[in-house]
Amino acid sequence: MKKLLITGGAGFIGANFVHYWMKHYPQDKIVVIDALTYAGNFANLEPVKNNDNFTFIHGDICDQSLVESLLNEHDIDTLVHFAAESHVDRSITGPDAFIETNIIGTYSLLKAAKKIWLDDALAKDKQPKEHRFHHVSTDEVYGTLSATDPAFTEETAYAPNSPYSASKAASDHLVRAYHHTYGLKVTTSNCSNNYGPYHFPEKLIPLVITNILHDKALPIYGDGQQIRDWLYVEDHAYGIDLVLNKGSVGENYNIGGNNEWANIDIVKTISLLVEQEFKNNNELTKRFPKAVSAINQNTASLITYVQDRPGHDRRYAIDATKTNNDLGYEPKESFSTGIAKTVQWYLNNESWWQSVMDGSYQDWIKEQYCSK
Ligand code: NAD
Ligand code: DAU
Repeated sequence: MKKLLITGGAGFIGANFVHYWMKHYPQDKIVVIDALTYAGNFANLEPVKNNDNFTFIHGDICDQSLVESLLNEHDIDTLVHFAAESHVDRSITGPDAFIETNIIGTYSLLKAAKKIWLDDALAKDKQPKEHRFHHVSTDEVYGTLSATDPAFTEETAYAPNSPYSASKAASDHLVRAYHHTYGLKVTTSNCSNNYGPYHFPEKLIPLVITNILHDKALPIYGDGQQIRDWLYVEDHAYGIDLVLNKGSVGENYNIGGNNEWANIDIVKTISLLVEQEFKNNNELTKRFPKAVSAINQNTASLITYVQDRPGHDRRYAIDATKTNNDLGYEPKESFSTGIAKTVQWYLNNESWWQSVMDGSYQDWIKEQYCSK
């Protein structure tokens, strides 16, 4: 039985991981620490909040003494670190929070883990207990690819281009250093773009779905030919499960969907899926009367090319051969089933996305990128 501390468990991937873990390992104890920033939402944890094996702590990962007390009081043996500022656009206009949470926050967690799992045991002449510090990172640390470059492997040199990816790269290096210098038992996974339930509607896929339902413009940065490798979020949780249970300490593992799409094609695919739903289900017209373009089957008219993201990475692609060969990892969800489920989830969970969206985001994004 594991006792896990999950940082950022009220965010998109963290919450999906909590649901995955409680379904597959119901005997395990889970403690979530989350600062509930704009991206963290306790509603994401609603389905598990009354489970006896689940505890939620509203707190900041930069609070080292709080983390130390959680590691002690709950006898934690496994820390899975999701907490981060995660949106590239926000890192361009306001990098400070990214440096604070992604770098200082990770450093603070490493200090707490070293103190409780290594130093305190050694001070009592005891062997350190079995432990694991798993760090959740991104493919963006590897930089950008041209259309013909081979995909990123774990050997690809780091070349982060945005304040977000630079802050993630710094945190990856600190995690690595705590293993090499102090012997902390760490693993790191570098994953491609996730999609699925509870995805905050500032990111491309949920933004497109919710904008169609409000009949708002679908902003395409630059020429829309940038490529991302999309993975259903539950398959990310499954990959982390394999790393925790079968991965080797000190190693990095790439996790990806082998599923590259140009942004404009993703947007067109989602638009057609939403139109199809409106065509098949009259009820949607009553529930979403504002979705005039979906009702009239011409969502393509909402596509609007806007100013490009500064420093926009052209292409990401993950080569997950090592994770496939060493851990037996293969994504379980196909893109066609995953994206259909995701569209359905947003149609069925309007109260969730209405509650997490505040009007200021749309104003902010317009101010930043829709100036032409
Ligand atoms: P998210 O923005 O949806 O959630 C982040 C969570 O961290 C939120 O619940 C927020 O409240 C919490 N948080 C932020 N600062 C905190 C702090 N100082 N203390 C405690 N909690 C804090 O992010 P996500 O998309 O779920 O990403 C989770 C992790 O996965 C991140 O580390 C991200 O870099 C990584 N990642 C994301 C993707 C993706 O496609 N979204 C892909 C690869 C890797
Ligand atoms: O690759 C993994 C990364 O994926 C994670 O590390 C990040 O946390 C996560 O946010 C995501 O980063 P991206 O920048 O790739 O995701 P985003 O959804 O913001 O954008 C996806 C692509 O779509 C990107 O090329 C920018 C473009 N885009 C995005 C938005 C929000 C648009 O063209 N229009 C938009 O309105």
